[in-house]
Amino acid sequence: MARFIVAAVILFASLYSVVATAISANSWNTINIQNNVTFAYLDGGPPSGSQYTTVIILHGDGFNSNVFTRLIAKAHDFGWRVIAVNRRDYAPTTLLSTAELAPLSAGYDGEVAFFRQRGKEVGLLIEALISKHKLPAAQGNIKNHQNGIVLVGWSLGCVTTHAFLANLDALPTTTLNTLQKYIHTVLQHDPAQMGWAPPPQHDLSLWFNPDLHQRFTLFSQWARSFFKHNNTDPKTGNINDIDFNNPTSKPPTFSGLSTSVVNTMTDYYPFAYSEMTIIFLAPPSTALLFRRAAFDKTLGSYLPQVRVRYYSAAETPGILMWTVWQVQKTIANPSFINGVKARDVKYWISPKGNHFVFWDDADWTIGEWIKAINL
Ligand SMILES: *[C@@H]1O[C@H](CO)[C@@H](O)[C@H](O)[C@H]1NC(C)=O
Ligand SMILES: *[C@@H]1O[C@H](CO)[C@@H](O)[C@H](O)[C@H]1NC(C)=O
Repeated sequence: MARFIVAAVILFASLYSVVATAISANSWNTINIQNNVTFAYLDGGPPSGSQYTTVIILHGDGFNSNVFTRLIAKAHDFGWRVIAVNRRDYAPTTLLSTAELAPLSAGYDGEVAFFRQRGKEVGLLIEALISKHKLPAAQGNIKNHQNGIVLVGWSLGCVTTHAFLANLDALPTTTLNTLQKYIHTVLQHDPAQMGWAPPPQHDLSLWFNPDLHQRFTLFSQWARSFFKHNNTDPKTGNINDIDFNNPTSKPPTFSGLSTSVVNTMTDYYPFAYSEMTIIFLAPPSTALLFRRAAFDKTLGSYLPQVRVRYYSAAETPGILMWTVWQVQKTIANPSFINGVKARDVKYWISPKGNHFVFWDDADWTIGEWIKAINL
């Protein structure tokens, strides 16, 4: 059933291949990778002084880097330079070609190969950003997150950050030697698609709405809503404490903004096409990414200083809260996913905020991210 729908989606979406949202090009910086891929990014620039931490962020499904404009504006107060990169398929970053997408529809081995390319690209991208912007290397006690780079994934973007860590062995040694001096933390904010089938409590019907534009509207409303969970602590809560399907009456994030402003932050084309394919993948390939990223001895020997942090906020959609609860179980007992302890991995559940807390309260979010980084 799911596979059939995905095929239909791809057929339908390919008709829209030129619809990639027109976003003003002025504010985008660009950088080239492998001579054929351009990544577009927003750069808050360095804070005052030559020493600072760079936070590189990869956005989620259907939303581009413009969702981080408020966070970028606040970052200097914390001595951060934020670089928010549009992932592949989000214009004006290079779209995924038909040849690049083909493996995604070729079963498990194809999916693994597809994610290996996406992961490798992130490594090459970070190396290029370091070189172009002469970013400060990590210094001294990385426990104080001094300088260096924090890579942040948000929502479905966490599949790409997992793909990066899971495929460090695809990178040239020279790239690894550079990254070794810079990256100290990968922070996964409300990660999605980590290889667990959703529990039956989670209502999936929006994903089966036959009208893709309506699907996007429903997805966007759901993701921007606030939920009240009676217990957010995975150690004492149980699944009945999580509200999966009934948002509170609190107006969703972006309520009151004009459609034209919201449109600068969204991108329907990848939502309906490549990302929809990823959403409908059978779990094993994304489960592999999670295991290799954080719970695999061999991969953990690459960039061994990198800490992995999983972050959620108390009012986020239930399935995302539930996902971080599964992470807590995995940390407590890595055999839960057939893994082993291989990195410093911890989780943090912030006492307020929804899936877009970095927009609603950018200061608070940066403070909470710093707590998570320094756990
Ligand atoms: C870019 O080049 C790489 C390496 O040769 C290749 O795998 C990839 O498909 C190319 N991507 C595009 C968008 O042409
Ligand atoms: C939370 O508790 C309230 C009051 O006991 C109850 O009405 C509500 O259904 C509970 N919510 C969930 C998700 O269990």
